[in-house]
Amino acid sequence: MDDLEQLRSDSLARIAAADLDSLEALRVEALGRRGRVTALMKELGTLAPEDRRAAGQALNALKSVLAEAIDARREALREGALDARLAAERIDVSLPPRPEPDGRIHPISQAIEEIVAIFCQMGFTVAEGPDIEDDFHNFTALNIPPEHPARQDHDTFYFEPGEDGERLLLRTHTSPVQIRTMLVDKPPIRIVVPGRTFRADHDATHSPMFHQVEGLVIDEETHMGHLKGCLIEFCRAFFGVDDLPVRFRPSFFPFTEPSAEVDIGCSRSADGLTIGAGDDWLEILGSGMVHPKVLENCNIDPARFQGFAFGMGVERVAMLKYGIPDLRTFFDSDLRWLRHYGFSALDMPNVAAGIAQ
Ligand code: DAH
Repeated sequence: MDDLEQLRSDSLARIAAADLDSLEALRVEALGRRGRVTALMKELGTLAPEDRRAAGQALNALKSVLAEAIDARREALREGALDARLAAERIDVSLPPRPEPDGRIHPISQAIEEIVAIFCQMGFTVAEGPDIEDDFHNFTALNIPPEHPARQDHDTFYFEPGEDGERLLLRTHTSPVQIRTMLVDKPPIRIVVPGRTFRADHDATHSPMFHQVEGLVIDEETHMGHLKGCLIEFCRAFFGVDDLPVRFRPSFFPFTEPSAEVDIGCSRSADGLTIGAGDDWLEILGSGMVHPKVLENCNIDPARFQGFAFGMGVERVAMLKYGIPDLRTFFDSDLRWLRHYGFSALDMPNVAAGIAQ
């Protein structure tokens, strides 16, 4: 019986320390067909009849104690494993979701929005016109007759002539929308015209497709002072420099008289270009007082009405403002570039933010 007590306490201690694998080995070792308890059962027959009954009871008790201890340990190990798994695989539903990779606004779209927002705050409205134009709107009505040298500068993409012999073209500037507007609307007119423009020119600083924003103001009392005030205000608001130097340099365009190119102050150093005070100038706009012949071509009386117009290249001002070094990258459709230079939809200007009050 002492042996049984020893066997019982040893076995219970080993069961308590066992893992699932060693527990099964323990069960086989104690209770299996060749197990220690089974072997002792077989020995009962060799005992004297008077001892056999008590020994049998003791062995049965030991057998069920061990079997229960093994079952209880197995159950505890399984529960423990499940708890550990539940803890390890727990999902924290309170965590914020992973951000979705969101789209970016192309710098050209952003620049157009910013430009338009500033002029809208000044009372301009947006007008648009077709990419495919005819000779009259793109050239003739703008006082660029067929033999005019300015035509050669425009490197125009022409379509095949139609049945009437007329060749349509891809507009070389947004100025034809001035004509389209003046033929339909009567003054006062205050429009800005963002849009695509095309010239057969392709190198590091020219793309065959590019963008312009045109402006047109026609009224009875509009004069050069309005042109200057409007464009100075625009340059300062767009580049975000309150005291930005702005210079008007005499120039020539067939559709304006007088004409002026607009330069903004900058400084150049080894680190690159800084917009603002400095001893250098950058050209960013063409402008002028609308030529009387252009008004006449649109059935507007130049004795009564006058106004100013301007046009700017969107790529150029976007490169300057956002520090984009290479024009060609605008149209490469490279998503890594767009992720770097693009804008969040939340950065789109609202009209109220256009001009500092
Ligand atoms: N259309 C001109 C160009 O593409 C830009 C321009 C200059 C537009 C002067 C104007 C203007 O309205 O007044 O080069």
